[in-house]
Amino acid sequence: MTTDEAKEIIRQKKTTFGKRLVILGHHYQSDKVVEFCDYIGDSLELARKASAIADAEVIVFCGVYFMAETASILASDKAVYIPDAKAGCPLADMAEPKDVENAWGIITDITRSITPITYVNSSVEMKAFCGRNSGVVCTSGNAARVFEWAFKRTDKIIFFPDKNLGRNTAVSMGIPEDMIAQWDPSRKGGGLDEEAIAKAKVILWNGWCPVHWPGLDPSDVGMVRKKYPGIKVIVHPEADPKTVELSDAKGSTAQILNYVRSLPKGTGVAIGTEFNMVDRVRADFSRALNVIPLKKVFCDDMARITVEKIALTLSDLDKAHRVKVPDKIATDAKIALEAMLEIS
Ligand code: 13P
Ligand code: SF4
Repeated sequence: MTTDEAKEIIRQKKTTFGKRLVILGHHYQSDKVVEFCDYIGDSLELARKASAIADAEVIVFCGVYFMAETASILASDKAVYIPDAKAGCPLADMAEPKDVENAWGIITDITRSITPITYVNSSVEMKAFCGRNSGVVCTSGNAARVFEWAFKRTDKIIFFPDKNLGRNTAVSMGIPEDMIAQWDPSRKGGGLDEEAIAKAKVILWNGWCPVHWPGLDPSDVGMVRKKYPGIKVIVHPEADPKTVELSDAKGSTAQILNYVRSLPKGTGVAIGTEFNMVDRVRADFSRALNVIPLKKVFCDDMARITVEKIALTLSDLDKAHRVKVPDKIATDAKIALEAMLEIS
């Protein structure tokens, strides 16, 4: 199938399905895919949208698997499809439920005043774990609000799986470095002794997004500032804390877009996140701003979604990949997801 044929099929299917079909897409999707999305957003906006869609029966999710899973849990009366089931997220796989249960057992023997929070970029089992243990999900767009909510309930937080988002959020809330500990699941007792666990306000899991870390290096910020004096720099909070510290701002993909919109005409801005999004922002704002990538970084998993695969999905839903989460896991995960939506 050629790209033009695929586009024609999608157009026809969208007409046939009408309001029964909604195509959701993440900001990291290619322009070709974005052209057919009814709604584009960051993880938080897409979760909200999925939970609020009224008419549709079918959702085609153009993003990575955990996002489609989240949509299927929040829109459980709809059939959610992903055009490529192999579009995973390496970060989401970095917290293994058995390692997490082990850590939880050790830590809760020391203190019960702790809230488990999982980044939405995690497995559905992790979300269910948080649901079962009075915890919550967060995204990069609401992490600080969710942390604040947790600190009103308990003294400590354990945050899975992205150490960088966790540290960047904790630091931005003024939590001192010596009260942030990191649990390394490959080491006995996570590599932490009882004193370190007792002292910590935030315990981070040792996971990371390979697109944002260590790729977006602090030296990249220095280099763009030297080359383009006066340039603004904004990065995604999955980047290294030092990179974030040297930047002017950090934010989710939607927050990055809002930041760019707020800049006065003629400003230069370097964006540290996935290139598909940066390049689209560059094109969309080309008359007003000079937008450059802090560095060109790509998410190969997001790129698995293509117009050809969307066309195949819509052509035969029986053969397409429908995202289904077992009922028990979905029920527990939904508790943690809905807690998040209520907070922010
Ligand atoms: P956002 O929620 O900021 O869109 O981020 C999702 C993601 O996967 C970033 O790598
Ligand atoms: Fe996962 Fe990173 Fe890709 Fe986002 S950019 S989907 S966190 S691998």
